[in-house]
Amino acid sequence: MPFTLPPLPYSTNALAGQGMCQETLELHHGKHHNAYVTALNGLIESKGLQGKTLEQIVAEAGKQGADGLPVLNQAGQHWNHILFWQVMSPKGGGDKLPGALETKINSDFGGVAQFKEAFKQAGVTQFGSGWAWLIIKSDGKLAVTKTPNGANPISTGEGTPILGVDVWEHAYYLDFRNVRPNYLDNFLNKLVDWEVVATLLNKGGLQSGQSA
Ligand SMILES: [Fe+2]
Repeated sequence: MPFTLPPLPYSTNALAGQGMCQETLELHHGKHHNAYVTALNGLIESKGLQGKTLEQIVAEAGKQGADGLPVLNQAGQHWNHILFWQVMSPKGGGDKLPGALETKINSDFGGVAQFKEAFKQAGVTQFGSGWAWLIIKSDGKLAVTKTPNGANPISTGEGTPILGVDVWEHAYYLDFRNVRPNYLDNFLNKLVDWEVVATLLNKGGLQSGQSA
């Protein structure tokens, strides 16, 4: 099948000491993410997606509004989870950001603490399922935004994501039950691999390498 589930960049028990248990990763990656991949592969022919990259499919589906939702729901979620797995690591967390990223965040948010609060609030206030993001806007400035369900800043045209957090309940219910704010604090302070975020800032975003 053209789209594939990329392996996690760490073992399923690697983040257990950082607030994301093995069962969460097994279900979230092996069942939820895999289901989006399977469903997207099932749409390739009927939706004429052959030959397109995942990024192209997400952007085009976003422009189609309600008509694009059946594709966006699966393609967006496939892209979103590819980024999500990459921005966490067993050596993530802390307040020590790579210099260039810290300088940029200080410049565009007034400080790392201000950025973290804005990012957390975006996740807390996303009603229902969705994502919070750190993006590079077309003017080069960093910004925080949020999207519902499977949408992302590529599909909305807002910018290029370099950090994303899943606020669907399947991402945090086993570890934090219904307390999404605690999950977001934990994500920012214990899970984010700031080196990866800095690399994505430097490269201008993530290319999934996936296509139909
Ligand atoms: Fe998810």
